[in-house]
Amino acid sequence: MTEVDLDVHHSDEDVTAALRADVRDGLTAAQKWLPPKWFYDAKGSELFEDITTLPEYYPTRSEREILAARAGEIARVTDARTLVELGSGSSEKTRLLLDALTSHGTLAAFVPLDVSASALAEATEAIAADYPGLEVRGVVGDFTQHLDLLPGAQPRLVAFLGGTIGNFLPIDRSKFLSSVRDVLEPGEWLLLGTDLVKDRETLERAYDDAAGVTADFNRNVLRVINERLGADFAVDEFVHESYWDAESEWIEMRLRASRETTVHIPGADLDVHFDEGEYVRTEISAKFRPDGIAAELAAAGFAVEQWWTDTEERYGVTLARSARA
Ligand code: SAH
Ligand code: AVI
Repeated sequence: MTEVDLDVHHSDEDVTAALRADVRDGLTAAQKWLPPKWFYDAKGSELFEDITTLPEYYPTRSEREILAARAGEIARVTDARTLVELGSGSSEKTRLLLDALTSHGTLAAFVPLDVSASALAEATEAIAADYPGLEVRGVVGDFTQHLDLLPGAQPRLVAFLGGTIGNFLPIDRSKFLSSVRDVLEPGEWLLLGTDLVKDRETLERAYDDAAGVTADFNRNVLRVINERLGADFAVDEFVHESYWDAESEWIEMRLRASRETTVHIPGADLDVHFDEGEYVRTEISAKFRPDGIAAELAAAGFAVEQWWTDTEERYGVTLARSARA
């Protein structure tokens, strides 16, 4: 396979220091929480790929249906010369965009960015091999910190797929959208995938599958803390839960302690006590309504060009244009 050099924005020590800070913040809060980016070591990235094939987890299939139907139109409207992808993971669905943009004849470079070096290395090598002539420049980094250095000829199309925008709290979501707009010139593009509000049962099952893959993915964050910070979480004693918060319109993934315990985390110089039944919130996955998406994009300085859903109207993709400098 073709080897692709990755541009690495943080060292292993930086990653450990960032995890230490997040663990100290999140696990000393009255309601314990952890940021979802820590799911994604090599094992977590593989588990996420397994999730995308589960019968209960519809977002990947719905988004793929939309991209398959609209990729040609996206290529024609944007004339993109660079495709940037944030939180790119395996970039599997992105191949629909790469196919359309290469046959349209404008695309020169693909710039995927992800915190997961293993997922990024695998994806960039496969894509470089399958798209000869395309410049592939993988960036290992955090999309909340490393947007300013994204290379590429204009116009750029920034794809943020999978519904990952839903993993931000609303306040961080608006900051993130503004930061994307800040790195774009007026007229450049954002393609945003968003999961939509729907009934509780469909949503809770999508995040609590019968095979237990999502439970394993959720508990992986504890394994990451054990490995990086020398902690002694008894991983199997934390029970996975998915809960639809109808007021906030987000799914919460939680890990609930099945017995009282004190976890030692030497790498964060911290001992954390859990009562029996106490939980850590490990992820929110916000679900959207079309009006809300358009309003949030407008507030960040984007003009919506197109909005599409899948045939079952479970999921939406928005093509928006950076409207001001
Ligand atoms: N876009 C893919 C993958 C979605 S999973 C899809 O649609 O299937 C979310 C991806 O975002 C993972 O690959 C994870 O490693 C990455 N990620 C999560 N938080 C991140 C952050 N703060 N910065 C960069 N990448 C992040
Ligand atoms: C990456 N992100 C959009 C996924 C989601 O649906 O919120 C992560 C995930 N969590 C559990 N299953 C999938």
